[in-house]
Amino acid sequence: MCGIVGIVGNQPVAVRLVDALKRLEYRGYDSAGVATIHQGKLERRRAEGKLVNLERRLAEEPLAGTSGIAHTRWATHGAPIERNAHPHFTDGVAVVHNGIIENFAAIKNELSGEGATFHTQTDTEVVAQLIAAYVRKGMTNRAAVQAMLKRVTGAYALAILFENEPGAVYAARSGPPLAIGYGEGEMFLGSDAIALAPFTNQISYLIDGDWAVLTHDRAEIMDFDGNPVTRARQLSVAAAYVIDKGNHRHFMEKEIYEQPEAISHALGHYIDFAERKVSAIAGSIDFANLSGLAISACGTAYLAGLTSKYWFERYARLPVEIDVASEFRYREVPLNANSAALFISQSGETADTLASLRYCRDAGLKIGAVVNVRESTIARESDAIFPILAGPEIGVASTKAFTCQLSVLAALAIGAGRQRGTISAELEQTLVGHLAEMPRIMSAVLNRIQPTIETLARDLSKCKDVLYLGRGTSYPLAMEGALKLKEISYIHAEGYAAGELKHGPIALIDENMPVIVIAPHDRFFEKTVSNMQEVAARGGRIIFITDEKGAAASDLPTMATIVLPDVDEAIQPMIFSLPIQLLAYHTAVFMGTDVDQPRNLAKSVTVE
Ligand code: AGP
Repeated sequence: MCGIVGIVGNQPVAVRLVDALKRLEYRGYDSAGVATIHQGKLERRRAEGKLVNLERRLAEEPLAGTSGIAHTRWATHGAPIERNAHPHFTDGVAVVHNGIIENFAAIKNELSGEGATFHTQTDTEVVAQLIAAYVRKGMTNRAAVQAMLKRVTGAYALAILFENEPGAVYAARSGPPLAIGYGEGEMFLGSDAIALAPFTNQISYLIDGDWAVLTHDRAEIMDFDGNPVTRARQLSVAAAYVIDKGNHRHFMEKEIYEQPEAISHALGHYIDFAERKVSAIAGSIDFANLSGLAISACGTAYLAGLTSKYWFERYARLPVEIDVASEFRYREVPLNANSAALFISQSGETADTLASLRYCRDAGLKIGAVVNVRESTIARESDAIFPILAGPEIGVASTKAFTCQLSVLAALAIGAGRQRGTISAELEQTLVGHLAEMPRIMSAVLNRIQPTIETLARDLSKCKDVLYLGRGTSYPLAMEGALKLKEISYIHAEGYAAGELKHGPIALIDENMPVIVIAPHDRFFEKTVSNMQEVAARGGRIIFITDEKGAAASDLPTMATIVLPDVDEAIQPMIFSLPIQLLAYHTAVFMGTDVDQPRNLAKSVTVE
């Protein structure tokens, strides 16, 4: 959503703060700012747009000072213009904020009535104004911060700087993550461990309700009531990852090509390759005695979950109740305590998903988290963590996380089937064998299909609308293909169950809207070919994504046919993800959009 950092340092901090923001830019990038204290004066520089604009401002007007806070924004309240960029200042108080202050309007009216002058359209400004008002009434900085926390409601990760207290940065968390980093005579604060990786790998995570006072050599952490608390110091692995593009033009392209390696890493955690069986899930969730499984997530993670529904129901005969997290808990899904719930989230910080997790936990369900960040809030609030081990995914459009989620979920479904006795040891070995083949097959596919995809993407980039069709596990994949295309190329796209075409969408078919049909030669193939004939009969142009058997079995005229290897149904979603990811990527490149940081998006949406 937004990224915040703070440093109580022993050397100039402005440039270091901006460098830390670069590692958070994937969380939001429509404006940025930094504030420091120098010679007893609070100063700030802010800029609209990407961080490079703030760097330019700082080069023109450098900021001195060894304590500071900084922010990269994904706008919730107030246009993404410089005036609304953080840090917000009021009477010697500077604030940066990730989240939403839900009662900001009432507080703003009250303070305005007391004579306060507001300068922005943001919710965040009330935090600075409220603290300043409490200080004017005689409170200490510490008391003013605590009073503010008791007054505001909503989601927040805050960093606060007082002009009259240059050796301290205040922090508070309720919802969005906030990490404290321990340095040598310096203390750090950041939205996640990746931001702090250049400074330290010694990290503590605040939990909801915590607030803290960071000084040069310590962090004093209190709970919401002001009682001192201790939060575990852990070694962050974020520092171990090199965050760069390698020889790729974009992080997204790099992450697409990292998938074979990432998946083999993920599978290595769940598969005993020698015995060809699923391991590492014993003691996590007892699938044997479950009467049902709830799954909830957002976006691409939801589509991974929807794919796994087919596997859990087919291999483990486990009924799955699934919905997007923003709908799930408002439906008041009837859940019994003999169910478990899986929450899938790359970032582990998505507010909608976290809220659904808490709903299921309150209903007494066993909670499992399929996450890429083991230190994340969703992981920390789960009974069982199923890491996907994809490595940091910087491109806002999820690719390697998606196929790693699928791989882990497939392993879980097979393991659940064994625990429930619904699949034999032989079938487990066969299925695990197919999973084990994936990295090799993916590498071969990636090396072969790129030229065809690039040619096709040039044509697709001229379209206004695209329809994706699929059956079985190719149906969630059709929706994922549509999501990928629309979120990075801004072309409108829809994913539909192929069997639904005749119930309405067929009215859209004409020569201007390509129809991308995802159809391996599986048990649905003949029916999907019939749908393709319906499209062709109405002048629709078909992009056919199939396998060798499928290509041999259909002589329908197409705009293009992408032929993948014949693979078992259990791994088709992972293999068939590759052309839809590459198609979206190259189309966006032709469109000249910002592939890694598409407009209006953020990598982790930590507000509901
Ligand atoms: C995926 O390409 C999107 N960027 C988005 O839908 C994402 O999957 C969704 O916001 C969920 O994020 P999470 O996996 O971090 O919870």
